[in-house]
Amino acid sequence: MEKLIIAPSVLAADFANLESETKMLNESAAQWIHIDVMDGAFVPNISFGFPVLEAIAKHTTKFLDCHLMIEKPERYIAQFAASGANMITVHAEACPHLHRTIQQIKSEGCMAGVAINPGTPVSVLADVIDDLDLALIMSVNPGFGGQKFIPHAIQKTTQLKEMIRTTGKDIYLEIDGGVNQINAAALHHAGANVLVAGSFVFASGDPKATIQELLSLA
Ligand code: DX5
Ligand code: ZN
Repeated sequence: MEKLIIAPSVLAADFANLESETKMLNESAAQWIHIDVMDGAFVPNISFGFPVLEAIAKHTTKFLDCHLMIEKPERYIAQFAASGANMITVHAEACPHLHRTIQQIKSEGCMAGVAINPGTPVSVLADVIDDLDLALIMSVNPGFGGQKFIPHAIQKTTQLKEMIRTTGKDIYLEIDGGVNQINAAALHHAGANVLVAGSFVFASGDPKATIQELLSLA
């Protein structure tokens, strides 16, 4: 089985103490940090943008995995790259020219990901999969942390894993939303190799131990 990466979402962190939260994650077994950007248009919530990403980038030693839940993300790719993003993931539903946007992300020197909502089939990725560094299955409807996991995401993970296998390439398969100790092992077994976890990590008494727990469950 492939090695698992845990990507804690700072959406669930204490924003008044971002420096200490970032340093805590530096000391943890999490390999990535997940950055959820929401615009109040593509999703019904606004989170944060460049200043917060820059602040985290200044203090982190980890890979910055930026999940853009915004309309027309092509307008902001260069600025996310300049603000410290390592991976930039856009939503298939938000990009009329998805192939062009993927190339744009790569031309800025970042890795490129595409996310799909719970209501979007995996087949939407078929014509771009070869160009991707990461494909993300949303296991909640995007917009809020702390929502209940949608079990159908496990079937979609199996389908996407098969699609990735046929490319013969190393493409990260990430799951985002409601990940916890109950579903982590099933997701990893189905083929996911990156698990985002927000509230499960930060609402626990000991986030570092919780990250370790997720890694050991898989
Ligand atoms: C949801 C975000 C997720 C969220 C995950 O729109 O994309 O990354 O922060 O949070 P939990 O793990 O609490 O569902
Ligand atoms: Zn996310």
